[in-house]
Amino acid sequence: MADACILGIESSCDETAAAVVRSGERLLSNVVFSQIATHQPYGGVVPELASREHLRAIVPVVRRALQDAGQSYQSIDAIAVTQGPGLAGALLVGISYAKALAFALEKPLITVNHLEGHIHAVLLEERQKAIAVSGNSADGSEFEVNFPLLALVVSGGHTHLFLAQQRESGWVYENIGRTRDDAAGEAYDKVAKLLGLGYPGGPIIDALARHGNARAVYFGPVQIKHNNRGVPKDRQTPYDFSFSGIKTAVLRYVEVEGMRSSIAARQQALAGIAGPRAEDVLPLCDQKVLDLIASFQRAVVEDLVAKTLAAASEREARTLFITGGVAANSELRKAFEIQGAKAGVPVFFPSRKLSTDNAAMIAAAAYPKYLAGDFAPPEFSAEASLALR
Ligand code: KG4
Ligand code: ZN
Repeated sequence: MADACILGIESSCDETAAAVVRSGERLLSNVVFSQIATHQPYGGVVPELASREHLRAIVPVVRRALQDAGQSYQSIDAIAVTQGPGLAGALLVGISYAKALAFALEKPLITVNHLEGHIHAVLLEERQKAIAVSGNSADGSEFEVNFPLLALVVSGGHTHLFLAQQRESGWVYENIGRTRDDAAGEAYDKVAKLLGLGYPGGPIIDALARHGNARAVYFGPVQIKHNNRGVPKDRQTPYDFSFSGIKTAVLRYVEVEGMRSSIAARQQALAGIAGPRAEDVLPLCDQKVLDLIASFQRAVVEDLVAKTLAAASEREARTLFITGGVAANSELRKAFEIQGAKAGVPVFFPSRKLSTDNAAMIAAAAYPKYLAGDFAPPEFSAEASLALR
């Protein structure tokens, strides 16, 4: 198979990223410029600010990725860029830059769906590990995927279950579950904001939950409530998710338990710390809020694991990929490892670094398209709601 160094560019949300990956199996560089500090004061991503920050960062980030990989603009074989889904203005920055670069360098340009990128992050790392073990750089075939493969893509913008099959043209995807409202990562971020814990919520809640009793507050199926009551059997969607109810339940608990003043005090204390980390937040939390955090996390994790494994069993999946920002969560990883082993399905995650948004996953997902000569037409543009098929 043809060897190819692909430069990946990712700008769909609040990370400006560039990376160089060789033949979908060797990470040569991975540069991620995070805009967390810009969005932190707002407790969420502000689209206009995201576009502005991407514009500022894109040139130095790409230059750095090439340098780290020991490559140059001329030496790379192709450029890959995220086409969607994501914030239209943010995507456009990466796409415009990638188009200009491809045109000027006369290199092929490949578009990648961000969600397929998250799935390929797992494949890239498993191939890389297999090569490290075997000590030889063949064509990546040491890591064999058994199909059908079920992928849970769970992040700040998405909670999707995709069943993937191998076809001659590459992988094809069937979306068998999705969130009806908030994504799981969005629920983490909103609950963290509500409890005055800082932004982004996922890593902070992950760290704080270890100090709480996960059985202290009961969140049941009523809060994580997507159900099929009254829906005819042939139109039921058993693997859909819903995470907006649990956020309301947390809010109600805060009101009933009179936690407002302690939240305000925490917010005030954290306002004086630039980029607060979990170590800064922990001393500002009483046991009641730690128990609430742990219980929230348990409810979300149990729901993600239960629906994914039910889908895996019913659709006879032979491999499970768990990926996206929330896949960095330690409880989620533990639960999937235990439950996956019980169910007899091998479960794979990306490293934490490649769980959240990055461009290595974009460069890796572009490799099969490079081999197939599947290059982007010059007139393509950003697609905020691009579907994965
Ligand atoms: O994949 P990603 O970087 O961006 C999107 O495509 O959305 O995911 C970011 C999301 C945020 O909502 C963040 O709070 C969540 O992933 N996240 C986590 C953890 N690390 C990041 N959620 C739970 N536990 C974590 N350790
Ligand atoms: Zn993402």
